[in-house]
Amino acid sequence: MKRLRTQVGIVGAGPAGLLLGRMLHLEGIDSIILENRTRDYVVGRVRAGVLEQGTVDLLHQVGLGERLQREGLRHCGIHLGFKRRRHRIPFDELTGGRSITVYGQNELVTDLIAARLGTEQPLYFDVRDVCVSGFDSAPRIAFHLADEECEIACDFIAGCDGGHGVCRPSMLATAAQVYEREYPFAWLGMLAGTPPSCEELVYALHDRGFALFSMRSPSITRLYLQCAPHEDIDDWSDARIWDELTERLETADGWRPNRGRILQKGITGMRSLVVEPMRCGRLFLAGDAAHIVPPTGAKGLNLAVADVQRLARALAKYYHNGREDLLDRYSDECLRRVWSVQRFSWWMTSMLHRVPDGSEFDYRRQLAELDYVTTSRAAMTCLAENYTGLPFDAEGLASKS
Ligand code: FAD
Ligand code: PHB
Repeated sequence: MKRLRTQVGIVGAGPAGLLLGRMLHLEGIDSIILENRTRDYVVGRVRAGVLEQGTVDLLHQVGLGERLQREGLRHCGIHLGFKRRRHRIPFDELTGGRSITVYGQNELVTDLIAARLGTEQPLYFDVRDVCVSGFDSAPRIAFHLADEECEIACDFIAGCDGGHGVCRPSMLATAAQVYEREYPFAWLGMLAGTPPSCEELVYALHDRGFALFSMRSPSITRLYLQCAPHEDIDDWSDARIWDELTERLETADGWRPNRGRILQKGITGMRSLVVEPMRCGRLFLAGDAAHIVPPTGAKGLNLAVADVQRLARALAKYYHNGREDLLDRYSDECLRRVWSVQRFSWWMTSMLHRVPDGSEFDYRRQLAELDYVTTSRAAMTCLAENYTGLPFDAEGLASKS
């Protein structure tokens, strides 16, 4: 068996694991990152696209701002569409200048991997049979790398292995609790090789269900539509997808998404989930391993980044000053933000999706809510400050702590 030793063993090379590795490296703390997929798979996986201002600021601070600054699309608002009209929510005006940046998660992961490979710090792709143990005293991560049996001895394990990893179930064998909620719908997402026909995102509620217009670049449009959770993507021909999107998004002034070649498509289920606490001894969960939000608020990646910022800071205090208090507070402090974001994501989801077999009363109530949110300055401000993101440290409401 090959025996390795590091300070922090990180499971998962998604945004959470890679960013944690980056921040620890900048603090002079060693880590090993393990990923069970290939590099090509990780870089090619199309997922999130919206970065909060706090996420963008942090990426600049850790030296990952260059391409983001050049290629990211800064947006100062979004549109809410209903009853064949679009209504703009001007974030900058409502929040004192805050904005969001559209930059594909796979681009961010590409930048993080390049930064990691520019250091001596190990990142192993395509590992198998990852198993974490010894959280109470002597953490260990066992795995296979190209048929070789390996084991890492470390001071801490960071479980950054997403919604289907091994760290969350390992922690649940202890006293941790899961709180979750399934939604009776899913998103069909697709990438089209066509220029976006609107400069900002459009979230729309239609009689036939939710639709979202987004983008990745001046030549690539990203679109989503609500579908049933167990639908087969093969039942959705390209023509059917375009017809459905046009019907749900088109407005009375003639605006609609540009049609073009569909480059990639897939269906993703939706759920909300929180694990409490996010720590068991020397195992810390971060990102989707600890919590899942439905994508309507564009929060999952940003929440992962907020966790990692806290964890990196807590580990730095431990190694540089021998202080454990930040590690002790990690779970409680993260969970406060997590629940705030869960509430917002649930609210956006409930307002914008049609519940299958839901009542006409509910639909009309949702339309009334959209009417209020797009006409009351107070309601618009509430949406704008949550969407652009609560400040990472002050947390807005956290001033008493
Ligand atoms: P992941 O990205 O899932 O990374 C975990 C990594 O661990 C993966 O690379 C996985 O392969 C690896 N792994 C798993 N198991 C193991 C194992 N046993 N051993 C080793 N490695 C393992 N969020 C936003 O903020 N904004 C958005 O606009 C947005 N849109 C979204 C749209 C869609 C369609 C979806 C599906 C999600 C969206 N999200 C969005 C959510 C966002 O993509 C996730 O929250 C984010 O990927 C979380 O990052 P993570 O690093 O915690 O987990
Ligand atoms: C995306 O561009 O992929 C995206 C945008 C907003 C969301 C979710 C996904 O709420």
